[in-house]
Amino acid sequence: MAKTVANLGEKRDIHLFDSFHGIPHLGPKDEPFAGIEHDGLDEQLVTTGVSACSREDVARNIARWGAAADNLIYHEGWFQDTVPPSDTGPIALLRLDGDLYESTRICLEYLYLKVTSGGFVIIDDYNLTGCRLATEDYREANAILAEMHTVPGGEGAVWWRKD
Ligand SMILES: C[S@@+](CC[C@H](N)C(=O)[O-])C[C@H]1O[C@@H](n2cnc3c(N)ncnc32)[C@H](O)[C@@H]1O
Repeated sequence: MAKTVANLGEKRDIHLFDSFHGIPHLGPKDEPFAGIEHDGLDEQLVTTGVSACSREDVARNIARWGAAADNLIYHEGWFQDTVPPSDTGPIALLRLDGDLYESTRICLEYLYLKVTSGGFVIIDDYNLTGCRLATEDYREANAILAEMHTVPGGEGAVWWRKD
């Protein structure tokens, strides 16, 4: 995304929200995946260790790809803590990749309203039960009828354009 923005010669902020410590424990609406099981710690905001990548490593990788860092804004912590008080301004492209029901729900609840009319939403993990349910629940509760499209080769990712 950062490289695309740079290639287009545009100045846009890119907000990156992540724990940078990995995926937290499943909630009741999630099903086991990637070795994460229901383990009695349901919904605890404690890392499972899966997908852990430190902020420093992420920044290093981005630099290695040659993307500029000056328009990247990091929000480190659990979405439940960082997303509600965040002040991103209008969002042209909202890409959610949090895998779980609660992780997807909280982002949709607080960030979808900021997506501009004509803006795009990408849900990476629509193939995962919790993520799919959270997306369906939000779309239904907010009467979102925009057609959902699959991403070719996107391993279950979907996208739609906000009316
Ligand atoms: C499958 S990884 C994707 C990471 C990154 N988007 C990528 O493509 O490499 C899922 C990410 O969601 C983050 N995540 C999931 N639930 C979260 C939550 N409630 N708060 C903060 N981060 C969360 C994890 O830390 C993990 O980095």
